Amino acid sequence: SPVRDAPEAELSPNKVAQITSREVRILFGSDTGNGQALAEEMFQKLEERDFKVSLSSFDDFKPKDLKKVQDLLIVTSTHGEGDPPDNALSFHEFLHSKRAPKLEDVRFSVLSLGDQSYEFFCQTGKDFDKRLEELGGERLYPRIDCDVDFDEPAADWVEGVLGTLHVSQEVDDTVENLGQVDSSLLTTKDPVYSRSNPFKAEVLENLNLNGRGSNKETRHLELSLEGSNLAFEPGDSLGIFPKNDPSLVDKLIEQIGWNPEDSVPINKQGEQRTLRDALLFNFEITRLTKPLLEQAAQLFTNDGLKKLVKPGQEEELKSYIDGRDLLDLVQDFQPQGVSPSEFIQALRKIPARLYSITSSFKANPDEVHLTIGTVRYHAHGRDRKGVCSGECGERVEPGEFLPVYIQHNRNFKFPTDSKTPVIMIGPGTGVAPFRSFLEDREESGMEGKTWLFYGDQHFSTDFLYQIEWQKWLKEGVLSRMDVAFSRDRPEKVYVQHRMLERSKDLFQWLKDGASVYVCGDEKRMANDVHTTLLTIIKQEGNMSHEEAEVYLSEMRQQKRYQRDIY
Ligand code: 2AM
Repeated sequence: SPVRDAPEAELSPNKVAQITSREVRILFGSDTGNGQALAEEMFQKLEERDFKVSLSSFDDFKPKDLKKVQDLLIVTSTHGEGDPPDNALSFHEFLHSKRAPKLEDVRFSVLSLGDQSYEFFCQTGKDFDKRLEELGGERLYPRIDCDVDFDEPAADWVEGVLGTLHVSQEVDDTVENLGQVDSSLLTTKDPVYSRSNPFKAEVLENLNLNGRGSNKETRHLELSLEGSNLAFEPGDSLGIFPKNDPSLVDKLIEQIGWNPEDSVPINKQGEQRTLRDALLFNFEITRLTKPLLEQAAQLFTNDGLKKLVKPGQEEELKSYIDGRDLLDLVQDFQPQGVSPSEFIQALRKIPARLYSITSSFKANPDEVHLTIGTVRYHAHGRDRKGVCSGECGERVEPGEFLPVYIQHNRNFKFPTDSKTPVIMIGPGTGVAPFRSFLEDREESGMEGKTWLFYGDQHFSTDFLYQIEWQKWLKEGVLSRMDVAFSRDRPEKVYVQHRMLERSKDLFQWLKDGASVYVCGDEKRMANDVHTTLLTIIKQEGNMSHEEAEVYLSEMRQQKRYQRDIY
């Protein structure tokens, strides 16, 4: 169930009566597009109910307009170690600064998206919620913090907020004697296929792009979208609902000594499935979270586990959770007499995995292509794999079907003005959206210079889509390309080294209005590329560090610096 640590809010009758046709402003902060999708759903529901409502990302909202806001709904995810997502950074900073206005006439509510397996779970949402209250705002509905399986708690929030707003809207209408309140009979017309109703896409191709002897395995997957009515743009992602590894599921069931054919409930509505299928398709078994271990401590009669979740043991707990899965848990703490149904109810629903689409809808409207790096590693004495990438790497054959949906991504949109020069930085699988973009360009024949920085370990085995880049260079779809193969020579060469070598030209492109796109590894690459951009701007623009920071943050505000990093 959702975590609610904000107090229940109640509106005083006076306050309600004062409210006359208030306007609702929805702001979202989102990296993957989940927050955006929920904000859009809220927007649509309010519009259908005749509310005056507007919607934008934090970055598209002018902080000075905050004073004019009446009802403020915030939907935000949290990034990494409790930081705001890219498109919420400026607003988050503004709101926490001395420049933030008093918000005594503002009513607000926050929906916060996060992941319980992180220490700073839902931190950005908590920050906004707390700060809005400090500034004098009135909480119109308590904040809800969602874990990765956010559907149910998010739906609760939407309904709860609608209910509260609806009550005050009814009061308005009585006050103004307008009648005509209930438009809630209008039902939402969802697109046929969506996250809640994924399309079963047939697998057409599944190839390993890396050559023999590579350290890597990168899958090129082609799926059929025929008959789905799904459409997408470069920068959008495909969500896949993965299936857990059958051998892991079987080991888990065997370890606990359950019967795989036992029936277990898979949702609140009490729908049943066999234990084996539930563990294959419905629940996450490859990650542990603090709430899960706390529940397991209640269920298992195991003193070691009880000790681990005791207050004061946070560090031990964190280091136990790190890199372990459900099989480790049952091996280490041997549950006695726990019924499968009870245990299943402590698990999270398996979340969809998002992959940046690597093909163009314009070029191939009936297909969607992905570039997926197979994740394999060794931890705590066992070989382990990514859930979805492992599945795609080992168990997905042409002719099979995968449940998928399109996730539109407003935070990674290529310029609408085709003349805008575009700089793309995408080492490894980060190159995916750029292949989509260039294929799109080739199809629509748009103008504007394009420059791709690509890198991987070895030229001979890891140059993903090499033939296509060369073709596009020849045709002029791609104007320039610089590559960095990091392990072909004794010294490491990365994309940012190539950028620095070309700093003069790169800065000239920026002055000519180029937009910069970065996709791929977040922890190392994206940070280093960011620092390198600052260095280039400083160096070529004769700026101080602060001036360069401002330059880059203005680029971000103007959507000329966008990142899709993971
Ligand atoms: P490496 O594996 O030799 O370290 C795609 O994965 C490419 O990104 C690889 O060539 C990888 O190099 C490289 N890479 C690793 N760390 C990076 C960083 N901090 N910045 C840029 N590229 C990096």
